[in-house]
Amino acid sequence: MSRRWITERRREPYHRMAKEQGYRSRAAFKLKQLNSRFGFLDGARYVLDMGAAPGGWLQVAREVVGDRGLVVGVDLESVKPLGLNNVMTIVGDVTDGETLKQIIRLFPGKVDVVLSDLAPNVSGVWDVDHLRQIDLSRIALMLSEKLLKPEGWFVVKVFQGFEYNMFLEEVKSTFSFVKVVKPKASRKASAEIYLVAGNLRNFRK
Ligand SMILES: C[S@@+](CC[C@H](N)C(=O)[O-])C[C@H]1O[C@@H](n2cnc3c(N)ncnc32)[C@H](O)[C@@H]1O
Repeated sequence: MSRRWITERRREPYHRMAKEQGYRSRAAFKLKQLNSRFGFLDGARYVLDMGAAPGGWLQVAREVVGDRGLVVGVDLESVKPLGLNNVMTIVGDVTDGETLKQIIRLFPGKVDVVLSDLAPNVSGVWDVDHLRQIDLSRIALMLSEKLLKPEGWFVVKVFQGFEYNMFLEEVKSTFSFVKVVKPKASRKASAEIYLVAGNLRNFRK
C-alpha cells in the first residue's frame, strides 16, 4: 500500500464517516443508500450476507432487522463478533458446497433478503478479476433462488465487464423486478455496480 493511497483513503468522506459512526467499512453506506431507496431490509427477519467481512453490511442489516429474526454472514475471512445474539457468521468459501449446506442449515425456513458484496482479491488483470467476481455472483444468485421467499429480495454487487450483460439477463430471468444502481458511496471510478432484484419468477418450495 503506498503512502499516497493511505492518505487519500483517510481523506475520503465515507471512510471518515464509517470511522465516526462506528461502521466497520465504508461499504456500510452503500447498503444504507440502497435500502433507503428500495426498503428491502425494512420488515425483513431473515437475512443472508455473502462476502460479509469485515462486517459493515452485517451492522446495517442488524440495525434494520433488530433483535428478532436472524442475520447470517459468510466470508473466507473471520468477522470479529458483533456481540449480538441474532447475528451469526460462518468462515467458509462459497464455492464449496459444504459451506452452502452450512448456510442453509442455519435458517429455520425461507429467507427475506440475500445480499452479496462478494469480491475476489483483485489480481490487477481486469478480465480475470471480472470473471472471478461474476462466478461468485452466480453462486449468490443460485443460492438466492434456493433460499428466498417468493417476494424476497436479492441485492448483488457486480464488476462490470464482458460477462455483465449475460449475468444481468440471468438475474432478469430469475426475478421480475430488477434495477441497476450505482449508490453515491460507490466510487465513480470503480467498475462496480449493484443489482437490486425482487419477486422470484419461479418459486420452488
Ligand atoms: C467488499 S468485501 C465485503 C465488505 C462487506 N460487505 C462489508 O460491508 O464489510 C468482499 C468480501 O468477499 C469475500 N470473499 C471473496 N471470495 C469469497 C469466497 N469464495 N467465499 C466467501 N467469501 C469470499 C472477501 O473475503 C471479502 O471479505
